[in-house]
Amino acid sequence: MEMIRTLSRRRTSCRNFTDEVLPKEKLTELINNSVWVPSGSNNQPWRFVVITDKAKIKAYSDAAKKMWLENLPTSPHMQQYEKTFRDPTANIFYNASSIIIIYGNTESYWYIYDCSMVAGNLHLLAEEEELGCCWIGEAHNIFADPIVKKELGVPENYALVAPLIIGHPAGKKSVTESSNKRKPFKIIFA
Ligand SMILES: Cc1cc2nc3c(=O)[nH]c(=O)nc-3n(C[C@H](O)[C@H](O)[C@H](O)COP(=O)(O)O)c2cc1C
Repeated sequence: MEMIRTLSRRRTSCRNFTDEVLPKEKLTELINNSVWVPSGSNNQPWRFVVITDKAKIKAYSDAAKKMWLENLPTSPHMQQYEKTFRDPTANIFYNASSIIIIYGNTESYWYIYDCSMVAGNLHLLAEEEELGCCWIGEAHNIFADPIVKKELGVPENYALVAPLIIGHPAGKKSVTESSNKRKPFKIIFA
């Protein structure tokens, strides 16, 4: 059992995966462990969609890229990724074997915070298992789309919070601290 301190310092977002598939049991176990977080009013407002079908993952990547290109003028934060969206070979999910999408119940005021804590936990749990994980903001359009939500069986009152990819990392991950340095920040003891 590794210390949280070690895991959080070692974790980096993974963007390179093997083809090895994660069994449903492992994905279920990760999700079951991830929900042991605090939540506003203890509402626990999360629900999950898991996608493991390779063809579906590719189709959602293509649909997300197309959707971003159509909406780039009104999505200035995504304009820096235009080259990726125009590249027919680019997969925004980096060929990961699984996507875990966290949706939150919008009737619960704190749902974005609660579900984001679950997402953070999933990153650490994946690291503990030597799996790779990455939050894919580039999938926020497609998995928030009402038609896609319906397709995935997500009720209207649940909103997208976190699409995460998860799988076996290609290449050995360093077991030392993350090479991704933290920027300086202020701590005010007031
Ligand atoms: C809300 C959010 C959205 C992100 N979206 C993407 C994304 O679309 N594609 C990607 O490759 N990484 C994405 N990331 C991962 C960040 O790029 C990564 O966390 C950051 O560069 C810091 O690196 P590290 O996670 O390795 O410490 C996202 C992370 C967060 C928290």
